[in-house]
Amino acid sequence: MKRIIAPSILAANFLELGKEIEMINQSNAEWIHYDVMDGVFVPNISFGLPVLEQINTIAKKPLDVHLMITDPTPYIIPFKEAGASIITVHYETCVHLNRTINLIKEQGIMASVCLNPHTPVDLLDEILPELDMVLLMSVNPGYGGQTFIESTYKKVKKLRRMIDSRGLKTLIEVDGGVNHNTGKKLFEAGVNVLVSGSYLFKSSDPKQTISDLLSV
Ligand code: DX5
Ligand code: ZN
Repeated sequence: MKRIIAPSILAANFLELGKEIEMINQSNAEWIHYDVMDGVFVPNISFGLPVLEQINTIAKKPLDVHLMITDPTPYIIPFKEAGASIITVHYETCVHLNRTINLIKEQGIMASVCLNPHTPVDLLDEILPELDMVLLMSVNPGYGGQTFIESTYKKVKKLRRMIDSRGLKTLIEVDGGVNHNTGKKLFEAGVNVLVSGSYLFKSSDPKQTISDLLSV
């Protein structure tokens, strides 16, 4: 199964953001994970459209935008225009999820839905064939550097069965507390994309850590 690493730049050194993006450009990471937090849906505020626009001028990898915002639908087109290649919205924030997913796909980019740790994968039963990816949170969203929630493995396996039994190509991404140990078990459970923030950026050689994570 294809393996992708998406470094979360929430853990990057913002004073050296250009250099951090350059490191990712030269690494074996396939995507760049970009966490947008509004201080309402999650108890933290990160960055938004202007920073993404600037990253897009130098990034050579697709920008994987994770919207942790209360009302994401009006922001789909602005984020696409700022450079997003993949947009993830939270199940918990979309009253008309089908409409929001269609809007993302109409922009010609990948559409993905994220589930908080407490939200069951069964709720995706109807929408699953429409999705390019499902993002499973393995921490409560809002901060980097949190401890991985162990029940995620079971959730990944269940979602993998739902996808395979229907012959779908939907990717599974996991976000939060990913390191060498959790990453290995996640790939074994059927994950395609690992997001990694603090483990990767705080390592002595992030570029090497990306390669190591790919071959755990
Ligand atoms: C958490 C964010 C994550 C975060 C992961 O709300 O969605 O993408 O950056 O950070 P680590 O890998 O440090 O748990
Ligand atoms: Zn994220």
